[in-house]
Amino acid sequence: MTDASPSSTPPLIYVLNGPNLNLLGLREPQIYGHVTLADVEALCHQRALGLGVAVSFRQSNHEGVLVDWIHEARTEAAGIVLNAGAYTHTSIAIMDALRGTGVPAIEVHLSNVFQREAFRHHSYPALACVGVIAGLGPMGYELALEALAGRLKRS
Ligand code: DQA
Repeated sequence: MTDASPSSTPPLIYVLNGPNLNLLGLREPQIYGHVTLADVEALCHQRALGLGVAVSFRQSNHEGVLVDWIHEARTEAAGIVLNAGAYTHTSIAIMDALRGTGVPAIEVHLSNVFQREAFRHHSYPALACVGVIAGLGPMGYELALEALAGRLKRS
C-alpha cells in the first residue's frame, strides 16, 4: 500500500543560484569548468534522492527574486543551499532575508573565492549561514545537501 500521507513527503531543500550562474559551462571555463547549471541541477536531484530529501533548484539574475525565494523558504523549505554569485559580496538584503527566515542555509561557491580577487573574500550571506563551502566545484552542492540532510535527521 502506498503511504500518501503528508508525513511521508521528503523535506524540501531550496537550492538557489544567483546572477550569471545560468551561463555556467560557457562562462570563464578556466574558473568554473564546462559543467552547465542543468548538470548541477541533475547532480543535486540525484544526491537528494539518496539522502531522502527533495530539491527545488532555481536560478535568478535578480537580487529581489532571490530575496523573495528566501522569504518563501520560511514556510516551504527545511533548508537552503545558496550560491548567490556576485551578490555574495554585495547583498546585505540577502543576508537580512536569511536572518529573517531563520531557515538553515549553507553558502556554496564553485570556485575557491579565497584564491581570487580580494573583493570576493568577503561574504554577506555567510554571516547568516551555518556553513560555507568553496572551491570544490559542483561537489560543493552535494556536500551542502548532505550537511543539511544530516542536520534535519538529527533535529
Ligand atoms: C561564485 C563566486 C562569485 O565570486 C562569483 O561572482 C560568481 C560565482 C562561485 O560559484 O564560485 O558568480 O559564486
